[in-house]
Amino acid sequence: MNTIFISGASRGIGLELCKQLLNRDERVFAGCRDPANAKNLITLSSQYSNLEIVELDVNDENSVYNCFKQLNLKEQGIDKLYNNAGIIDWSNLLEVTEDSFSKVLQTNLLGALLVLRHALPCLGRSASPWVYNMSSRLGSVELRGNTHLGGAIAYQCSKAGLNMLTKQASIDLGPKGIKVVSITPGWVRTDMGGADAKYNVSESVTNILRVTDHLNLGHNGCFLAEDGTEIPW
Ligand SMILES: NC(=O)c1ccc[n+]([C@@H]2O[C@H](COP(=O)([O-])OP(=O)(O)OC[C@H]3O[C@@H](n4cnc5c(N)ncnc54)[C@H](OP(=O)(O)O)[C@@H]3O)[C@@H](O)[C@H]2O)c1
Repeated sequence: MNTIFISGASRGIGLELCKQLLNRDERVFAGCRDPANAKNLITLSSQYSNLEIVELDVNDENSVYNCFKQLNLKEQGIDKLYNNAGIIDWSNLLEVTEDSFSKVLQTNLLGALLVLRHALPCLGRSASPWVYNMSSRLGSVELRGNTHLGGAIAYQCSKAGLNMLTKQASIDLGPKGIKVVSITPGWVRTDMGGADAKYNVSESVTNILRVTDHLNLGHNGCFLAEDGTEIPW
C-alpha cells in the first residue's frame, strides 16, 4: 500500500484520483481548502477508512505549513505527491488583469512550490518518493510556438513555470531519491476543462495512473503526456 497526497482533491481530477486510488486500497491524504464543505470527499470518507481529508489552501503558506506539520508530527511518509490544485483564466495577454495574472501564478506555480517544499520531510520517509506536477500542453513553449493561438496567457505562463520547477526540482532532489515529473491529464471534462473536452474525468485519471504506475528513474525530470510519451518543453 502506497501513501498518496493529492492537492485540490475537492472536485475534478483530484477527486477522481482519490476515488481510483482508494479503490486500489492505497492510503490517501486529500488536501482541500474547506474540508467541512467538501461534500464529495466526506461521502468518500464514509466508505473508505483509508482516506484522510486535510485542510490545504496552496495560496496560504501557513495553511501549507500546518497541513504538513500535522503529518510530520505523526512521522508520516508520502510515496506519491500529486501537485494537482490549479485554476485558469482564459484571458489573452491584452485582456488579462494584473490581479488575475498574479492569482493564477500564485496558485499554479508558487502553490506547487510551497506544497513540494513543505512535503519534503514526508517524501524523505518514503523508500521511493515521486512528485507529479499536474501540467498542461498549454505550458509547452514549443507547442505554443507552433500555433497562432492567443490563449490563456496567465495559465500558459504558470504551467511553463511549473515545468521549470519540475526540471529544477528533479535535479536538486534527485540525489535524495525524490523523483519529479510534469504530467498532463489531457483535455478533461471538469469545471476547468468544460463540456467539450476530449476525456471524461474517469478516463483521464485511468490514463494518468497508467503512466505514473510505470515510471522509472529515467523519467525523472520529464514532461509526460497522458499516454506516457514525452511532450517537448
Ligand atoms: N481539465 C483539463 O482539461 C486540464 C488540462 C490540463 C491540465 N489540467 C490541470 O489539472 C489540475 C486539475 O484540474 P481540474 O480540471 O480538475 O480543475 P477543477 O475541476 O477546476 O478543480 C480544481 C481543483 O483545484 C482546487 N484548488 C484551486 N485553488 C486552490 C487553492 N488555492 N488551494 C487548494 N486547492 C485549490 C479546487 O478546489 P476548490 O473546490 O476549493 O476550488 C479544485 O479541487 C489543474 O492543475 C489543471 O491545471 C486540467
